[in-house]
Amino acid sequence: MRTVKAQLASAHVTTVRVNASDPVSIETSALVIGIYASADGPHPGPGAEGVDQALSGRLGPTLTAMGFTGKPEEIAKIPTFGALPAPIVVAVGLGDAPEGDQPLGTEALRRAAGAASRALAGTNEAAFALPATTIAEVEAVALGALLGAYSFSKYQTNGQKRPPVAEVSVLTAAEGAEAASLRATTLAEAVNLVRDLVNTPPSDLWPARLAEIAEEVGGKAGLTVEVLDEVALKEAGYGGIVGVGQGSSNPPRLVRLAYTHPEADRRIAFVGKGITFDSGGLSLKPAASMDWMKSDMGGAGAVLGALLAVARTGLKVNAVGYLCLAENMPSGTAQRPSDVLHTYSGKTVEVLDTDAEGRLVLIDGIARATEDNPDLIIDVATLTGAQIVALGWRTCGIMSNDDELRAELVGVAQEQGEGAWGMPLPEELRKGLDSPIADIANLHPERWGGMLAAGIFLREFVPEGVRWAHVDMAGPAFNKGEPHGYTPKGGTGALTRTLFGIAERYAR
Ligand code: BES
Ligand code: MN
Ligand code: ZN
Repeated sequence: MRTVKAQLASAHVTTVRVNASDPVSIETSALVIGIYASADGPHPGPGAEGVDQALSGRLGPTLTAMGFTGKPEEIAKIPTFGALPAPIVVAVGLGDAPEGDQPLGTEALRRAAGAASRALAGTNEAAFALPATTIAEVEAVALGALLGAYSFSKYQTNGQKRPPVAEVSVLTAAEGAEAASLRATTLAEAVNLVRDLVNTPPSDLWPARLAEIAEEVGGKAGLTVEVLDEVALKEAGYGGIVGVGQGSSNPPRLVRLAYTHPEADRRIAFVGKGITFDSGGLSLKPAASMDWMKSDMGGAGAVLGALLAVARTGLKVNAVGYLCLAENMPSGTAQRPSDVLHTYSGKTVEVLDTDAEGRLVLIDGIARATEDNPDLIIDVATLTGAQIVALGWRTCGIMSNDDELRAELVGVAQEQGEGAWGMPLPEELRKGLDSPIADIANLHPERWGGMLAAGIFLREFVPEGVRWAHVDMAGPAFNKGEPHGYTPKGGTGALTRTLFGIAERYAR
């Protein structure tokens, strides 16, 4: 287990602290300031006025001459030639100034800080003078900076990549700023761990390994961690997880993470899809859709990350998390299309397509989670390509048997800057899941509305009266494009902060 930890630990860890110094007098390698866009060109945002004065009021004209407009996440590096202790100023665009004396908004701050942080790679240390006067704003700047500094280079031997900025100071005089930066550190550590797990190739991350990592990091954070191995899973009747995992020489696991607070009266349950690699099984995927299926454990990652953050911040809530871990592979022992599984719920499922495996592991996790009698169950999963067709890369689809819960979850996700949109569970899709020989089939004969059909399938395994929501995050889990804001290429850690946000709402 020691070796697992040693291998996982990122080579570079960025630290953040707060500092009440004036931006014009602070000794730092790089000073980050925010710039608004306006009809008369770019102009310094709150906190950057003094810097403009120290530069003889030439900031705006200089930026204009460089073609910088102040649009969100735009970056310009300006040498100060002794006018300030900081040798360079890093200007980051904040977009249009908000109306009146409205604040900028925390997501815009996170993105600006993240973009600046990415531009600071190769710099040892920097100070951020972005508009952060409330503790929520301080947390946003700190979090954006820490998430933007993420890099995953442990598999690159030539050291060509510039290391991320090592030390970040958030310049602010806000009361409680210290605590806000600590919270940001806790959240960033959780999200960046999830990113590491998603980015780790399946040759180094299989179900038992992920379970070991959960035991180690969960144990350290004060979570109770239980792991069921393939023998225990078979014995206890987890037919879904066993069926999906049986084709691989890396057997499946179910991890239960539990956090309890003595003063908490509510209990929430999270269930994460943890397919460490999804080849499709015997219903094999085409090569082009397989190369990024290491990200198919992003849901389980988010559940682990959220539980870690809940434990480390000591929220007054009881929370359990289930990681449904399997590797979906074709082989002589793999499940076949037309096999029937006896799932943990007691219901039987006809497997028509072994590539619709996520729903098979999730229903066992959901059925197990109901035994904890939680006030709500949320499952998170990279479940369908149809989610990406419907909502694109950055917006997950949220379905629920409870309209209020769905709206609440969409709201929390949007507050965190995690794209989310409510989706229906249309009744007419249920009929297509009828099986001639089992209680239900895992595949709908039509591909239209595939995200919703998967939701309808899951809903069948949620007992009456249990509040449940399902998050399809197939697109948001993995960024195949270029980095943006505080989001790197590759694993994003999506939904970790949203699940933590839900835990916060159910705390107290
Ligand atoms: N893991 C995939 C879904 C996925 C697709 C995640 C693209 C991330 C990016 C899932 O197990 C899957 O294969 N779903 C099938 C379901 C179908 C067979 C009903 C799909 O979406 O094609
Ligand atoms: Mn699949
Ligand atoms: Zn999958």
